[in-house]
Amino acid sequence: MQKIQIHGGKELSGTIKISGAKNAAVALIPAAILCDEEASILNVPDITDRDALIRIIELLNGKVEVQESDLKIDVRDLKNTVIPENLSNKLRASYYFMGALLGRLKHVEIYFPGGCNIGKRKIDFHLKGFEALGATIIEDNDKYIIEAEELKGTKIYLDFASVGATINIMLAAVKAKGTTIINNAAKEPEIVNVASFLNNMGAKITGAGTSKIRIEGVEYLHKSMIEVIPDRIEAGTYIIMGALLGKDLRIENIIVEHLMSLISKLQEIGVDIKLEKDNLVINHGKKLKSLNITTLVYPGFPTDLAQPISVLMTQCNGTSVLEETIYSNRMGQVPYLNNMGADIKVSNQTAYIKGKTKLYGSEVKASDLRAGASLVIAGLIADGTTSISDIDHILRGYEHIIEKLQNVGADIKLINE
Ligand code: EPU
Repeated sequence: MQKIQIHGGKELSGTIKISGAKNAAVALIPAAILCDEEASILNVPDITDRDALIRIIELLNGKVEVQESDLKIDVRDLKNTVIPENLSNKLRASYYFMGALLGRLKHVEIYFPGGCNIGKRKIDFHLKGFEALGATIIEDNDKYIIEAEELKGTKIYLDFASVGATINIMLAAVKAKGTTIINNAAKEPEIVNVASFLNNMGAKITGAGTSKIRIEGVEYLHKSMIEVIPDRIEAGTYIIMGALLGKDLRIENIIVEHLMSLISKLQEIGVDIKLEKDNLVINHGKKLKSLNITTLVYPGFPTDLAQPISVLMTQCNGTSVLEETIYSNRMGQVPYLNNMGADIKVSNQTAYIKGKTKLYGSEVKASDLRAGASLVIAGLIADGTTSISDIDHILRGYEHIIEKLQNVGADIKLINE
């Protein structure tokens, strides 16, 4: 079994370059199948989710050429519309093939998506959106057959500003007849990235990044290229490490605006962050004040950084409160942090974190992607050795995490046990 082993306590100094955003790339790859010519996606992170999506496209009879972080996707001969269970449930983002295949071939057979076990993750808003566009859905246990004679533009209101539903409905609507309006759409930067890709192909989408998106259907989508935006969650994870251990740690290739909810919180509690155009330089805080955070949809504090910041909270003086509002079960790191010496109590997805506590190296398990990232942070600040198992979760979402941390002075390595 592969594990990540960390000897804690080392300062982090040097430069970490942020990769393309996982949650944008995993939508852009399925979006490419709407293109009637060849589509290129640049700056795709080398993570296992990418490989699973490529396998799905190949299974659909598409061709994918990978050159380092650039993908060329040619789906002119796309035939198949059936995605087997073992690929559907390998990752969450397989659900984007629902909207994309429906939009392209008006038919898809797929199973309930996989992804981190962080609470109920229903897809009812996606399905209601497809139905509103004219699709019929046959649901049999975890299998979905979604098809349409014709997709027709309509007005859709999302009960919750879901990232996945917003993108999926956008994918299904780009080639629908007439105009689709998504009200209460999610505003995350990844949605803007996907809309830009489709617009580069000739789609007519306006309002992405606001709560009202308007999509005028088109018939043909031509050759196009897009660059994946920098990963704000990967960046945020390294910034949190910098707030604890940074000595002139430079985080390069970021969009500062995407990270303001985190940066302003850290500055508030005494972390030294110098902002530059696409970079920042961070020095660890000397005496961190406690802080309160409630996760919200963008531009609020991202749920994906709640687990990483819970580790920083253990090093703040006083009680910090962390309220998770997006998922019903996103505190998988807490028992392990408590074993390492933290003092965290959880009640109804709110964590009360008393600091400052010393953390000690321990045997821990990554229960999900961001829990795994938070255990890496904990290992880096702990006294002694931490070994993390179930690291597949971490490698699904953080490109070259071990090498990136080794390059800035961390004592971290992959071991086989
Ligand atoms: N929801 C429903 N019904 C739906 C859709 C969502 O009830 O049809 C609920 C979910 O159960 C959840 C909440 O709404 O409680 C938020 O879900 P959303 O649809 O916004 O999230 P998602 O599309 O499933 C993406 C990211 C997540 C990230 C969220 C929020 C991908 C593949 N996943 O998930 O990323 O937390 O948006 O920003 O893009 C991660 O990277 O660690 C991660 C979990």
